[in-house]
Amino acid sequence: MTPEQQQIRDLAREFAENEIRPFSAEWDEAHHFPREVVAKLGELGFLGMVLPEEYDGLGLDSATYLMALEEIARGDASVAVSMGVHNSLPTQMILANGTPGQKERWLKPMARGEVLGAFSLSEPDSGSDAAGMLAQARKVDGGWVLNGAKAWVTNGGFGDVVVTMLRTDTPDDRRGAKGIGAFIVPTNTEGYVVGRREEKMGQRASETVGIAFHEMFVPDDQLLGDPSQGFIYALKGLDAGRLGIAALAVGISQAALEHSLAYAAERRQFGKAIREFEGMQFKLANMATRIEAARALLHRAAAAKDAGEPVAKLAAMAKLFASEAAMYVTTEAVQVFGGYGYVREYPVEKLFRDAKVTEIYEGTSEIQKLVIARELYR
Ligand code: CAA
Repeated sequence: MTPEQQQIRDLAREFAENEIRPFSAEWDEAHHFPREVVAKLGELGFLGMVLPEEYDGLGLDSATYLMALEEIARGDASVAVSMGVHNSLPTQMILANGTPGQKERWLKPMARGEVLGAFSLSEPDSGSDAAGMLAQARKVDGGWVLNGAKAWVTNGGFGDVVVTMLRTDTPDDRRGAKGIGAFIVPTNTEGYVVGRREEKMGQRASETVGIAFHEMFVPDDQLLGDPSQGFIYALKGLDAGRLGIAALAVGISQAALEHSLAYAAERRQFGKAIREFEGMQFKLANMATRIEAARALLHRAAAAKDAGEPVAKLAAMAKLFASEAAMYVTTEAVQVFGGYGYVREYPVEKLFRDAKVTEIYEGTSEIQKLVIARELYR
């Protein structure tokens, strides 16, 4: 770690310790998303970590950003997913594909945390097969009219802007993955409808909603780049997004390990602390080893990204490995706590629930394997 990375990591850790972790169980219970905490993340610059300084970002590399995101996830995964989606997807997609005018308009307030971003690709009937989407953008004079329903949108309700993919081909001339455009849509546009707020197993404080567009007009300057390339922009964005999810999984795992270590030192059975038993030592050693391996793979992928190398395979590997490690580590953490691991009063039950979705969102483990295999065959 460079001194700068250490400083950012420490800042994130301190913020998570003081402003996030003590309230995390309460937010989970109440389904409360702490918008005010996100505003503070914005003040710290954590919502523009990888944006260049000319757009009011911190201009950091991916490795440093992911270290900070891991720390925030160690505090609470719901806050981290909101921060991760904003940093990795809408801001990066606008930076990579936007016109100078779009970058000027959106990136500065997004970097400062005044505008919170969302990303919307999935639909009720197209998840893994994302190119099978149906929501339609129809070209009209001066812009586009959007219609259709999207699903599983983090930050889709109280967020301020969503980068969303819709079909730009026509029903008579379908072009598959090349018939999709990306649009920048402020959530206060007429015709933007927020649907059901999902009742989730974990990460319950983060907002996940369905959204719909009803005859929504967006002007031409809200189309991002080429109207046939939106799917490619989204998949490129997801390469970065998947690194973010891997960092989240490592943060959840690290928290579970720390709680387990503390509990195993304090809990006594058969006349001694349970950490003295070899069975417990083997568990803790396996948990710690998987976390280190996941973190190392994540940072191998981050280094490749920062060096400008192709990252799809490594990002998929990092997400696959780190999310499966998180399920392993949190399952073992519940076991370390025994009956106390199964009740809400203790923290590992929530970490177990929070971990599961890291194997699902931003591409399931099965999709990560598909991406890895395709890259191996290339
Ligand atoms: N970067 C750039 N381009 C890419 C790419 C990448 N990583 N991956 C594929 N492409 C290109 C391909 O090269 C191809 O272009 P060409 O024809 O010119 O070569 C084009 O994109 C289409 O690719 P495929 O033929 O591979 O497309 P496919 O339909 O077979 O799908 C897939 C590929 C990997 C399965 C993809 O659909 C996928 O990743 N599915 C999972 C979707 C996903 O992760 N959804 C998560 C939504 S976000 C979320 O979870 C909510 C949230 O808020 C957190």
